[in-house]
Amino acid sequence: MKYFTVFAALAASVMALPAPPSHGSTEWTPAMAGYFDVVYKHIQEARQNGGRPPTCDLSKAALPVAPTPLPILDSYVLEHVAIGRGTQNYTCANATATPTAAGAVARFYNASCLAADFPDLLGLATNIAYERPLPEDPLAPLGPTNMELSTHHFFSNGTTPVFAFDAPDSPKLGRVFAQKANDSIAPATAVKNENGVIPWLYLTSRSTTEGDIKAVYRVDTAGGSPPATCKDQPASFNVDYAAVYWFYK
Ligand SMILES: *[C@@H]1O[C@H](CO)[C@@H](O)[C@H](O)[C@H]1NC(C)=O
Ligand SMILES: *[C@@H]1O[C@H](CO)[C@@H](O)[C@H](O)[C@H]1NC(C)=O
Ligand SMILES: *[C@@H]1O[C@H](CO)[C@@H](O)[C@H](O)[C@H]1NC(C)=O
Ligand SMILES: *[C@@H]1O[C@H](CO)[C@@H](O)[C@H](O)[C@H]1NC(C)=O
Ligand SMILES: *[C@@H]1O[C@H](CO)[C@@H](O)[C@H](O)[C@H]1NC(C)=O
Repeated sequence: MKYFTVFAALAASVMALPAPPSHGSTEWTPAMAGYFDVVYKHIQEARQNGGRPPTCDLSKAALPVAPTPLPILDSYVLEHVAIGRGTQNYTCANATATPTAAGAVARFYNASCLAADFPDLLGLATNIAYERPLPEDPLAPLGPTNMELSTHHFFSNGTTPVFAFDAPDSPKLGRVFAQKANDSIAPATAVKNENGVIPWLYLTSRSTTEGDIKAVYRVDTAGGSPPATCKDQPASFNVDYAAVYWFYK
């Protein structure tokens, strides 16, 4: 597995891509191997064409198409792409009820350059994010892909997801108060927990939004689904998830 060392160096210098954790460490997983195989392919391509650096040009990035395509306006302009990692929260009224969605809390990491230049790595990076805990330091980049914190996601009330670009290195995109406009089931290839996977979403900005973001898409979801019933569940609980979020103005 010597090539991991080779591309670790190349990834950092030629491609501005992250280096993998040292091979043989307990952190190594099949999702990570899949991710770094694709990184390696890109590095080989880069060597063949002289190490062209990534452009990070978001006008070239294309939103993945949902199984039931989500509406998108021609007027939307892509501003930011982030990988989100956190929990979906649920409540249970009693043992015979079904779990009710009760918001979410997540940290988002800047994946704009991946979306623009290496879109095939985006979903794979999300699956790695899903299988690992968040860094202990709330401001630390997301290992092992080294993406910077860009957004905090939470709910201000039961139907209002909020995206706050308030981290030290956040792009200046304000604070988005959104509402659900449409959804689609995730593709069959999505990474599921024992209960499935949360849907892809189309969210639009409410009038209370600070800044110019008009729409947010949640795609490439992994996990996040609650059990089908509240049997043996506590009154409130969290389910781990990851997803990619696309922000348009
Ligand atoms: C972070 O996001 C901004 C746009 O929102 C982008 O210009 C920049 O290239 C991104 N950085 C990375 C490393 O993706
Ligand atoms: C359980 O909770 C559901 C939803 O709140 C309610 O409709 C139902 O009446 C409750 N059942 C019992 C046995 O309390
Ligand atoms: C969701 O769960 C997280 C983690 O326990 C908690 O910090 C947060 O306050 C919860 N959010 C809501 C809306 O319940
Ligand atoms: C939730 O917050 C939004 C925007 O801040 C507001 O428009 C909406 O009426 C609120 N809904 C409830 C049920 O309080
Ligand atoms: C969701 O989008 C579909 C088309 O993809 C459309 O038929 C449906 O009416 C939309 N639902 C809502 C709530 O806007």
